[in-house]
Amino acid sequence: MPSTFTDNEHGKPKLRNWKHNQVHDQHLHDQSPRPDLRWVFPAVREIEFTKEQLAEYDALLNDECNQKLKDFWQKKYRQDQGKNWELFYKRNETNFFKDRTWLTREFAHNGCDADMFDLQSLSKTDGTWKFIDIGCGVGNAVFPLLKLYPNCRAYEYDVSRRAINFLEERYRTDSVLGRIVRVGVWDLIKHEHPQEIWSPKVKIEGHAHEGHAHEGHAHEAEAMDVTVTDLAISTDDYRNMDVAMLMFVLSAIPIENVQTVIGRVVKTLRVGGLLLFRDYGRYDEKEIRFAKRSQSKLDDHFYVRQDGTLALYFDKDELDQNMSANGFEVVSSQYITRQFTNRKTGQKLNRCWLQAIYRRKS
Ligand SMILES: C[S@@+](CC[C@H](N)C(=O)[O-])C[C@H]1O[C@@H](n2cnc3c(N)ncnc32)[C@H](O)[C@@H]1O
Repeated sequence: MPSTFTDNEHGKPKLRNWKHNQVHDQHLHDQSPRPDLRWVFPAVREIEFTKEQLAEYDALLNDECNQKLKDFWQKKYRQDQGKNWELFYKRNETNFFKDRTWLTREFAHNGCDADMFDLQSLSKTDGTWKFIDIGCGVGNAVFPLLKLYPNCRAYEYDVSRRAINFLEERYRTDSVLGRIVRVGVWDLIKHEHPQEIWSPKVKIEGHAHEGHAHEGHAHEAEAMDVTVTDLAISTDDYRNMDVAMLMFVLSAIPIENVQTVIGRVVKTLRVGGLLLFRDYGRYDEKEIRFAKRSQSKLDDHFYVRQDGTLALYFDKDELDQNMSANGFEVVSSQYITRQFTNRKTGQKLNRCWLQAIYRRKS
């Protein structure tokens, strides 16, 4: 059992202050679109796992009945890693994830003394700062962020072309027009750079552009993105970022590729640039559910869902070390543990996420 979970070492204060409760209330509010429907949504409270609970979880996770999948399936799920996300978006379109409107609040709640969302300090002479959303999906994180920060210029990459197409579609009708400057396809496992980069298509007549930059091609593509900037599209349009985000992406990566992916992510940032990280934490009750089900374990704390997408559960200390070994320093890092109670059935679900901010050192 990792020491980070014992007693007071959970990285969280034991006593809750008013601010903390306020966050909790906002959560309740957030879950329900209408106050009169609030009772339909689960009640949420901050919790800390007890020693007994963790011992019980450990026993389940280490149960010998919980066998790893056979070699054939181990290989197959790894090979199809990107393809299964493409199929995920074909099936679910934009309906699976909700907009992450809680982003700024959660990262502030994390007690980040660098106050990473005081981003004015990152602004360049032209007043803008560059944000790269790696594994962006259909843009559930970037759209709320751009509404809050008009000075942000976003670069959106994902392994799934279909997800990027959905993001572009939304972009055409959204008020943040002009603030997503590049989109592209990037398989972080297979490629050091995005395989393809282009400007998001916009509706404005006469400004259509077909410019693409491909990995390995000459640096400057010919087309100009006249709607946003007069800069030509470049294969370098994923580097020198002020802020990067990995939001529930690293857990989708096979355990043995995590190092490589972190190494690629760090290179997208300028020295001093920040990485915002949120993903599944170890002993999340969804992990325990995997352990109870056969035919889903690929490795310790690493599983495959029924749709073929992967789910890796992170230990805070291990991840912090991994990040440090790859050129990051830890600004803040902690587990977020919450209990969700179904108001009708009383059924409880204990969730655990790992939330962190890392800074590129060198
Ligand atoms: C759980 S979704 C999160 C999406 C988005 N970050 C958000 O917060 O809504 C995981 C995302 O990681 C992307 N992804 C998975 N494997 C990837 C890879 N090898 N390279 C790049 N992106 C990948 C998926 O396509 C998917 O959009």
